[in-house]
Amino acid sequence: MYPDSYQESLAKVAAKRAENAAAEPRRMTADEKDALLKEYHPDYREDQFEEIKIGPNKGEKAPHELVAMLQAHSRVHAGDVDLDKPQYDVDVLIIGAGGAGSSAAIEADEAGANVLMTTKLRIGDANTMMAEGGIQAADKENDSPQQHFLDAYGGGHFAAKKELVEKLVTEAPEDIQWLNDLGCEFDKDETGRMITTHGGGTSRKRMHACKDYSGAEIMRTLRDEVQNRKIPILEFTSAIELLKDEEGKAAGAVLVNMETLELTVVRAKTVILATGGAGRMHYQGFPTSNHYGATADGLVLAYRAGAKLLYQHTLQYHPTGAAYPDQIYGALVTEKVRSLGAKIVNKDGEIFVHPLETRDVEAAAIIRECKKGNGVETDHGCGVWLDAPIIDIKNGEGTIKKRIPAMYRMFEKRGIDISKEPILVYPTLHYQNGGVDINTDCETAVKDLFAAGEVTGGVHGTNRLMGNSLLDVIVFGRDAGKAAGARFKDVEIKGKLNLNHVDAFEDELKAAGVETDLVSPKLLSKYVDQKTLLQGPGIIQ
Ligand code: FUM
Repeated sequence: MYPDSYQESLAKVAAKRAENAAAEPRRMTADEKDALLKEYHPDYREDQFEEIKIGPNKGEKAPHELVAMLQAHSRVHAGDVDLDKPQYDVDVLIIGAGGAGSSAAIEADEAGANVLMTTKLRIGDANTMMAEGGIQAADKENDSPQQHFLDAYGGGHFAAKKELVEKLVTEAPEDIQWLNDLGCEFDKDETGRMITTHGGGTSRKRMHACKDYSGAEIMRTLRDEVQNRKIPILEFTSAIELLKDEEGKAAGAVLVNMETLELTVVRAKTVILATGGAGRMHYQGFPTSNHYGATADGLVLAYRAGAKLLYQHTLQYHPTGAAYPDQIYGALVTEKVRSLGAKIVNKDGEIFVHPLETRDVEAAAIIRECKKGNGVETDHGCGVWLDAPIIDIKNGEGTIKKRIPAMYRMFEKRGIDISKEPILVYPTLHYQNGGVDINTDCETAVKDLFAAGEVTGGVHGTNRLMGNSLLDVIVFGRDAGKAAGARFKDVEIKGKLNLNHVDAFEDELKAAGVETDLVSPKLLSKYVDQKTLLQGPGIIQ
């Protein structure tokens, strides 16, 4: 239920609804978009970034919060744990058990590898599970991977690695089929044909969805397959450092049990990082749509081991995070609401932006509207209206309940009927566009260390389109699993496992004059009691 103070604005929005439903808002020109982004997008706030002082990206910028983690001390050092007596010896170690990790595990298992998965929380506790709107694939007759390429590459400001985008779009149709064959319940019409819609920045309707819980359904499908294959998983067990062999190849990891703090050593011929994103870093104080585990851990592990990052300074702020009520502040209000026809309007009910501009542009436009004083004041700052009832006006009564039932329920529980009232929204930290640099085999700069999913950079340039992250985790998760599943057969781990790169990193910190008490990876956000983790024996020096 909205408070009395919002009622005047709500009345104005309702009065303009019919007119707004029929309106065809103008698209911005490229110059207008550039100017808007420079002035209002958080990625352009120079005071929020600093230079990285050590490591492969030395001299480049990253958000303060990430630099603090990249330049923190390791949680484990040589001598804290016996590296000569690994508790596990496997072909492929997969760190992370969301969409990318699970897809990788399935393919590595299929290739005959002895696979071990480890995850900070439980299998499926990941951003994949939280994804709502859908997954892109150009599999309709009016569409093509080339068209998909142009949308994704352009939407990412022509900054993506072309060879990665090519893989993303060409493997997409087959991967949708793969998920379908595994039992994923995609939305289909009465003839069995998949229903597809637009997303921001798409030139064709290629968004496949499972209502508005697409990620949860995809994750359910993957988790079932991992469990059917009996692939072993260590849950509540976080990787805190990668291990190398005497040739400097990735050769395993040190893990910590999140409850008992017990350390475990895994020796592995190949390692796949699939640790996901960083929303819980709350860059620039933004709320987030991300899972509790999204704390940039994979970036820290890979960086300390010598892997390069790409576009670590670009983040995605999803335009429509819930701005009211407080209990769901920052939660994702899926872009599908706009795909189905809802418009974004200010406190006077006026449309100020096309609802399906790319996310960075849409978010910047909302921030600008608030800064101009045209938003609705909230306890956290400001919001604008996402006029959801337009969906039923345009598509027929009942569409909201049928096509976006999770959204309907999320607000209904809080006394707001989104088929009759608009949703108050403001941008929320949603995705890390950048991450660990990989090649087309998903291999990083560290030999035998692969990476897939949100932990990587380069697939989406500096701005990702809706539905290309679920696609990314499946395409590159599978590819990483296949690559590691082929590689392990030729790998010989040379000599003893070591943490020499950690010692070298500590020396670099000292030489660069970096003074810090922090340890990383972060593992959990500050609102989770970390006392035990930070003070546990053998965890910090
Ligand atoms: O708006 C959404 O449903 C989010 C989708 C995505 O990030 O791809």
